[in-house]
Amino acid sequence: MEIKNVGVLGCGLMGAGIAQVAAASGFKTIVREVNQGALDKGMARIKRFLDDGVSKAKVTTEQRDTALANLTGTTQFQAMKDCDIIIEAIVENVEEKVAAYTFLEAGVSPNTIFASNTSSLCITELAAKTKRPDRFGGLHFFNPVPLMKLVEVVRALTTSDETYQTLFKFSQALGKDPITAPDKPGFIVNRLLVPYLLDAIRCYERGLGTIEDIDKGMKLGCGYPMGPLTLLDFVGLDTTYYIANIMFDEYKDAMFAAPPLLKRMVLAGKLGRKSGEGFYKY
Ligand code: CAA
Ligand code: NAD
Repeated sequence: MEIKNVGVLGCGLMGAGIAQVAAASGFKTIVREVNQGALDKGMARIKRFLDDGVSKAKVTTEQRDTALANLTGTTQFQAMKDCDIIIEAIVENVEEKVAAYTFLEAGVSPNTIFASNTSSLCITELAAKTKRPDRFGGLHFFNPVPLMKLVEVVRALTTSDETYQTLFKFSQALGKDPITAPDKPGFIVNRLLVPYLLDAIRCYERGLGTIEDIDKGMKLGCGYPMGPLTLLDFVGLDTTYYIANIMFDEYKDAMFAAPPLLKRMVLAGKLGRKSGEGFYKY
C-alpha cells in the first residue's frame, strides 16, 4: 500500500518528533493535539529543532522550509480523514489510546493503517479494540526521534503481511533503520533498557552514589551517551512510571516494579525535563 498522507496523534515529546521526521521525509503530515495550547507548544518544538538544525549546518534552510510546508497542525479528529497511516503517540494508557482510535474510526477510511508508538502496551490488545485488527501494528520510535535511527516494527497476532511490509518500508522511507520486534511488553529495547533505568533509581534510593556520580559513572565508565538518571529525565518520569507498571503487570517480575521514589516524584509533578524538574533542575 502506498503512503502519501501521514497523520500523527499527539504532538508531545514523541509525536512532535514523528511528525517532524514524516514532514521532512516528504510526506504531507497532519498532527492532532487535544487543544490549541498543546498544539502550539508541539509545533514550536518542531520549529525550534529544525532551526537548531540549520544553526548546526545539519539542515538546509530549504529542507526546514519544505518540512514546515508539509506539516499541518489540528485539534480536530475529522481533519485526519484523508490519512493513509495514522501514528498514535499519546499518553501510555490503554483506555486513552482506545478512546482516540474510536474517535478516529468514525471518520477515516477503513483502509487507513493505524500504528501505535506505545513503549510497552500489548499491540494485539490495541489492535483487537479497533475495527481494523489486520491494519494495525506497532511503530516504536526512540527519543529524540529526529536523531535516533531505530524503529521497532511490531506485529500484532492479527497484523496482515501487507500491513507489516508497509510499516517496515514506511520506517525506511523516514530514514530509519528498523528491526522487527515481538509483541511482548517492552518489545526488544525497553525489555532491556527499562530494568536498567529502574535499577538506577533503586540504587540511588539505597545510597549507592549521588545523582551526578551514578550518571558520570555510566557515562564515562561505559561510554553511554547519557547517564541513567539524565535519561530518565529525558524520557519523562511519568511515562517511565506508566511503562514500569504495564511491564510489571505482564511479567510479574520485581525488576519491572516502579521504585517508591519514582512514584513519589511523579505524584509531586517532578516529571523530568518536560516539567522543569526531575532528578535535575532545568
Ligand atoms: N538537527 C539536526 N541534527 C542535530 C540537531 C538538530 N536540531 N541537534 C543535534 N544534531 C546532531 C548533531 O549535529 C550531532 O551530529 P554528529 O554526530 O554528526 O556530530 C548529533 O545530532 C548529536 O547531537 P549533539 O552532539 O548536539 O548531542 P549529543 O552528542 O549530546 O547527543 C543525543 C544527543 C543523541 C540525544 C545523545 O545524548 C543520546 O543518544 N542520548 C541517549 C538517548 C536515548 O537513549 N534515547 C532512547 C530513550 S528510550 C526510548 O526512546 C524508548 C521508550 O519507549 C522510552
Ligand atoms: P508526552 O506526554 O510528551 O505527549 C503526549 C501528548 O499526547 C500530550 O501532548 C497530550 O496532550 C497528547 N494527547 C493526549 N491525548 C490525545 C488525543 N486523544 N489526541 C491527540 N493528542 C493527545 O508523551 P510522549 O513521551 O510523547 O509519549 C507518547 C507515547 O510515546 C507513549 O505511548 C510513550 O510510551 C511512547 N514513547 C515515549 C518515549 C519517550 O522517550 N518519552 C519513547 C518512545 C515511545
